[in-house]
Amino acid sequence: MVRPFLWDSERKVLHVLDQRRLPSETVWIECADAHAVGDAIREMAIRGAPAIGIAAAYAVVLGFARGGGDSPVSRFEDLAAALLNTRPTAVNLRAAIACMRARLEPLATASAAERVRALEAEADRIAAEDLRANHRLGALGASLLPGEGPARVLTHCNAGSLATSGYGTALGIVRALAESGREVEVFASETRPYLQGARLTAWELMADGIPVTLVTDGMVGSLLAAGDMDAVVVGADRIAANGDSANKIGTYQAAVLAKEHGVPFLVAAPFSSVDLETPTGAEIPIEERGPEEVVEIAGRRIAPEGVPVWNPAFDVTPARYITAIVTERGVARPPFGASLARLAGLQRQ
Ligand code: MRU
Repeated sequence: MVRPFLWDSERKVLHVLDQRRLPSETVWIECADAHAVGDAIREMAIRGAPAIGIAAAYAVVLGFARGGGDSPVSRFEDLAAALLNTRPTAVNLRAAIACMRARLEPLATASAAERVRALEAEADRIAAEDLRANHRLGALGASLLPGEGPARVLTHCNAGSLATSGYGTALGIVRALAESGREVEVFASETRPYLQGARLTAWELMADGIPVTLVTDGMVGSLLAAGDMDAVVVGADRIAANGDSANKIGTYQAAVLAKEHGVPFLVAAPFSSVDLETPTGAEIPIEERGPEEVVEIAGRRIAPEGVPVWNPAFDVTPARYITAIVTERGVARPPFGASLARLAGLQRQ
């Protein structure tokens, strides 16, 4: 199974699979300092909410392994501020930074080497926990699609191995179905403008031998109207306390169309994507990206010079369109305010 990063503990280097070059080239970027990881996140060499969080955790390790002579607290806060700025919508980055801060706090009198060891252990834990969560939520999600015939699932963007520590969230459900012996057929929408569906989801599923059919984003309505889709399954970058879910631009229209055609709409995410401090989707910051992603395809201009562009990277699907939110702690059902709060309580037990 493909992984979006590899941590070399001996050399203290984070190797990032450059997802901008997939599927035509497999190129790894060597990140030897926190700045390089921040660039890789901002420029989308590594992307997907959980993978961004894990990369940021290793960036903190690098910031301490190759840091200057300032105080640990100010070094941490400088690193955190720079990393939090890279991609604002996905809350996993903030959650990972909070875990790293909590790990650092009791180490005021520790040696520099002890601090690096502790921070590295925390980043490893975050990565391992994400992989474990994906397997667990994958199995839970698969149980929501009972039946014997082939399961037909539509997904948007890439919420697979490439977006996480491995296995994936939406594609974790697909993998769990396939591992259970069920025939699965995935429809992947191309996900304009960055084409994560066409470039990454299609590639990742084909590598695993899972049947996948590519459609353009404009074909989703006709596909759902055709009447033989078992579910739409997507990931999330941030889930508000009321269940409103931010995910890659284009998710919202798929959710509305799914409801119109009576197709279950599942959001699959580790609990680190749930942000109970954000009451509703209206408070989720939506990242806007540069115009070149819209006016160009693969570096080639397709629109007239000077045309204004609006390029929000994410949209918010209101909770009323969501059938269930599948996390490693359990499946939340409407009303999500209560069900997510109950799952949050499980952590503290
Ligand atoms: O801009 P990206 O590629 O980072 O956006 C990714 C998505 O929207 C994914 O669907 C989301 O992060 C969930 S990944 C498990």
